[in-house]
Amino acid sequence: MSETSFLQLAGKHVLLGLSGGIACYKTAELIRLLTKAGASVQVMMTEAAEQFITAVTLQALSGRPVLSSQWDAREPNNMAHINLSREADLMLIAPASADFIAKLAQGRADELLSLTALARPMGTCPLAVAPAMNREMWAHPATQRNVAQLIADGTQILGPGAGEQACGEVGDGRMLEAAELFEDICAMLAPKHLAGKKLLITAGPTFEPIDPVRGITNHSSGKMGFAIARAAREAGAEVTLVAGPVHLATPRGVRRIDVQNAQQMFDAVLPLAPQNEVFIATAAVADWRPASHAQQKIKKDGSGAAPMIAMCENPDILASVAALNPPPFCVGFAAESEKLLEHARAKRLRKNVPLLVGNIGPATFGQDHNALLLVDARGEREIPHNDKASLARQLVQDIAQRLHQTDPKA
Ligand code: C5P
Repeated sequence: MSETSFLQLAGKHVLLGLSGGIACYKTAELIRLLTKAGASVQVMMTEAAEQFITAVTLQALSGRPVLSSQWDAREPNNMAHINLSREADLMLIAPASADFIAKLAQGRADELLSLTALARPMGTCPLAVAPAMNREMWAHPATQRNVAQLIADGTQILGPGAGEQACGEVGDGRMLEAAELFEDICAMLAPKHLAGKKLLITAGPTFEPIDPVRGITNHSSGKMGFAIARAAREAGAEVTLVAGPVHLATPRGVRRIDVQNAQQMFDAVLPLAPQNEVFIATAAVADWRPASHAQQKIKKDGSGAAPMIAMCENPDILASVAALNPPPFCVGFAAESEKLLEHARAKRLRKNVPLLVGNIGPATFGQDHNALLLVDARGEREIPHNDKASLARQLVQDIAQRLHQTDPKA
């Protein structure tokens, strides 16, 4: 199997401006994430930012000289603010201080960063800002007025987050973490194959309790379902993720509903399904559960006899959603240990879904890589071995094409 590892931000150019704030250290990490994903990054910083982090660090991380003065003679035509913004796919100010946000709101341009933000072509170079300031500064009506003005001007506000601040106070105003900003930037730069669509996704294992301390579960990590949720959000969809017990961070911009067992997953999914255009069932739902749930821990009685645990079948969530009238576009998953194609074909017919995605369970559970076999009424197609994030993006694109074929107006 061949692996085409494509970098998510290959060919993208980001203009990254820092204004003054402790959060400058997070921006150093963000530059690493962006360049690792294939983006080129041009860093600009204000005089205040230079008090918090050196240009040396940022130059080393971005691989390009950092610009901080509009009088920098290195630009042949001495118009860095024009040249740089013409080639960028996105301009991000992170951290954006309260003062810098005020400047942007007023359209002032008395140093290189604000000058570039004002001079950028708004149609090709969207602006995003990641506020970073003390909670009182963030809550101040002047800042809120300025932020509202930026939104009205078409600027994306990323965050801020809440929590403990450098000053020791706790509240809103922290800059988002580098990984969170990275996710938001990926979403801003991704093609919007699923704009305006609503997707419902199940992910992870279920846990079927035997008694208060034991239960039946499986090795599903939820990684594939979470990657699909993230890719779908990047593609512009409104995503609801119903997750079994997993240790994964919620993808940015995704609504998450946590459940434990199959019945709870069924109860969460069924009322939501009719409001969604697509349902993707990646969860490894337990087929059976203990028929009764002991209220107290089952104890050994010393006889050597193991308890008999009677089992009953769980509701089939995917088949139930597929039986709705009309159903959303349903995508099932099949984690098999052998005869993948045969089982995937049979499962697609049994569940009555247009698309069934087969994969080898023991090879994928908990792993970061996988390979997918897409089985539909016409035949099958493989998405070759790759990291789950890449597979998820390819699957999302495939589903978007199918939706478009079903309804070319969509
Ligand atoms: O029957 P099996 O568990 O192999 O089918 C797998 C597919 O059906 C997956 O898409 C899974 O999420 C879904 N499923 C379900 N509810 C169940 C069992 C499986 O939605 N009770």
